[in-house]
Amino acid sequence: MGEHGDDVRGAAERHVPVLLERCLELLAPALAEPGAVMVDCTLGMGGHTEGVLRRFPHVRVVGLDRDTQALELAGERLAPFGDRFTGVHAVYDEIRDVLADLGIPAVQGVLMDLGVSSLQLDEAERGFSYAKDAPLDMRMDATAGLTAADVLNTYDERDLVRVLRTYGEERFAPRIARSVVRARAVAPLARTGELVDLIRSSIPMAARQTGGHPAKRTFQALRIEVNGELEALQHALPESIEALAVGGRIVVEAYQSLEDRLVKHALAAGATTSAPPGLPVVPDTHQPYLRLVTRGAEEADEAELARNPRSQSVRLRAAERLRPTPDHLRTNRRTA
Ligand SMILES: C[S@@+](CC[C@H](N)C(=O)[O-])C[C@H]1O[C@@H](n2cnc3c(N)ncnc32)[C@H](O)[C@@H]1O
Repeated sequence: MGEHGDDVRGAAERHVPVLLERCLELLAPALAEPGAVMVDCTLGMGGHTEGVLRRFPHVRVVGLDRDTQALELAGERLAPFGDRFTGVHAVYDEIRDVLADLGIPAVQGVLMDLGVSSLQLDEAERGFSYAKDAPLDMRMDATAGLTAADVLNTYDERDLVRVLRTYGEERFAPRIARSVVRARAVAPLARTGELVDLIRSSIPMAARQTGGHPAKRTFQALRIEVNGELEALQHALPESIEALAVGGRIVVEAYQSLEDRLVKHALAAGATTSAPPGLPVVPDTHQPYLRLVTRGAEEADEAELARNPRSQSVRLRAAERLRPTPDHLRTNRRTA
């Protein structure tokens, strides 16, 4: 666990899984199946998984995370459950390859609790937090890929504007990108603190007082870019749905509108007939293969908010598989 071991364990203890009871309630009918398996696509500190393993004593959970530190910590926490828990280092769009390797043809539950964990935010050195000065890293998988510093120091100005606008919905994207390009001509950006100062000085005085921390949107945008979060989610949703047995359920918690939109569309696509409009009788091959089990997106109520500030922006959606996906709509992304 290294020198941060105690902090890391403390983070796990402080962390309350978002809408845990509601997730368990939504998964319950599917997980009642004998021999049920659930995939927790975003294991994190294992809070939701621990809830599932305690509530449903016959269920086995496969937990995925691209963050090796999360896997290590969750592995320790969940050791008492023995072989009912299997942790795998993977990006969640690899779900079907992981299941194939484990010899599991289909699962009864899939859970996704998107975004960064409190563990990642609390570990200053990982560079996710604008509140703590640290190297500009922001990789969830610290063993691979571009860092936030690489993005800031190598993308051309137009691409920086695109990233900040699309993933951060940052209205001052051009000003911030300009300042980044000017600053890096002197010396490459290296620390989160430098970036925060640069953002502060790039935006108009009046805007510094409103709309939360001025660096919040830029940090979100960089994190999404560094981790390819939206691409991974876009592929992972149909892959996860494909992994579900008939009667299986998927529950997804999203924390920002770009992610929630992808979730909404993926579930709606399965819950709508694929027949061309005007057919008098919808053939079986065009019947919906999912049924939405939440009405729109559910949000946290007062009690949850009081318990757990992270639940503030949560949008929870869930669906149940009614029948196999018709052949003409099946994705075939599996490589194994
Ligand atoms: C919000 S946390 C999950 C917290 C967890 N539900 C709990 O109760 O402890 C999200 C986790 O998902 C992981 N993650 C995010 N995107 C991922 C992806 N594309 N593939 C695999 N893991 C991912 C992050 O590394 C992080 O640990």
